[in-house]
Amino acid sequence: MILNEKLKKAIAAACDKFSTPLYIYLPRIIEEKIKQVYMVFKSIDFHPTFAVKANYNPALLRIIHDNGFGMDVITRGELAAALMAGTAPHKIVINGCGKTAEEMAEFLKVGVGAVNIDSIEELSGWKNALKTSSHKPDFFVRLNSEVDAMTHPFISTGLKKHKFGVPLKLLDDFFAAAAKNKINISGFHIHIGSQITEVSPYYEALSQICNIASRRGIKNINIGGGWGIDYTGEKLDLDEYKRTIVPLLKKFRVSCEFGRFITAESGLYVTRAVTVKNNGYKNFVITDGGMNHLIRPAMYGAIHEFEIIGKTNDKCEVNYDIVGPLCETGDVLYRSHEGSLPYPGALIVFKNAGAYGFAMSSNYNSTLRPAEVIISDKYEIKLIRKAETIDDFLRTARL
Ligand SMILES: Cc1ncc(COP(=O)(O)O)c(C=O)c1O
Repeated sequence: MILNEKLKKAIAAACDKFSTPLYIYLPRIIEEKIKQVYMVFKSIDFHPTFAVKANYNPALLRIIHDNGFGMDVITRGELAAALMAGTAPHKIVINGCGKTAEEMAEFLKVGVGAVNIDSIEELSGWKNALKTSSHKPDFFVRLNSEVDAMTHPFISTGLKKHKFGVPLKLLDDFFAAAAKNKINISGFHIHIGSQITEVSPYYEALSQICNIASRRGIKNINIGGGWGIDYTGEKLDLDEYKRTIVPLLKKFRVSCEFGRFITAESGLYVTRAVTVKNNGYKNFVITDGGMNHLIRPAMYGAIHEFEIIGKTNDKCEVNYDIVGPLCETGDVLYRSHEGSLPYPGALIVFKNAGAYGFAMSSNYNSTLRPAEVIISDKYEIKLIRKAETIDDFLRTARL
């Protein structure tokens, strides 16, 4: 997405009003992405959910909810955000590989619609939790299909060395243990990884899973998330996905848990250049926000393209890194950019930051989390989360 002049003006106005760093979202893009999802699955019985881990802002969840999505949650915090957004409990799906007894009790009390069980070991926990509950969700089993998602190792989840799911060779044991614990398994769930840009790993995993489901009379399949977006020129080909994957799913009631695909492109992380420094060896643009609020470049080597709003030195092009203000060498937002240096005060707008951006932010170096705003199609600015204050930051501390 190229920022047009009106949007640049609105971004600058939002930064003046709410300060930087700042997260900005464009709801129109979320709605476009949702339409694309519905187009792919329009020929089958399809029940989408959004993976709240990607972005838990309730105002954004409300938009996604209003477009027909349920919510996939892992923790009580994500559950609270989903409920605040207005999600009906029966449209909430529970995931996670380490659910505690307290969490299970709360999920049942709220009346969630479905639970993906991650292991044989988890079954007894649900048996105990169900003893004191009048509510019984649908139970699915998360399968580990041992398929290489060909993505970054930190966001690949479907190999046997990974902690997630029940390996296919233990499936008989799993069903025997489920019967012993009186838990009826009505669906299969897979999630092989995130930021997947090839259709083939999906084909490999889902063709196996659908065959096993047919043999066992399982009617529900949750296909997880993982659709890769265009950070650097590569993305999942949705036409190919529709042609290749959707026919496999025709006989099933299909759910999904897309995160990144829905919100990533709608989000901008905006920082302001504070210092522009040359140490005799290298140029650095030091901004007022860093890996504390957008950790993906530091953690995964991810690339978030950026635009500058404000003055740049157009006399020469140089090579520079954009770095944050933290006491950490790894606090890098963009490595080795070739171009005009911004002057201090210019805004640096990082794109595709709407998934795993704010959601992975922290208070590291005792920094405060930034505000979040939306900018509408009419360039109206609305605050959807206030920036943290020092009072917020110290509220839970005790001497
Ligand atoms: C179980 C599960 N489902 C869904 C998702 C969402 O993945 P994505 O944001 O790549 O769509 C994740 C992300 O890691 C996940 O772990």
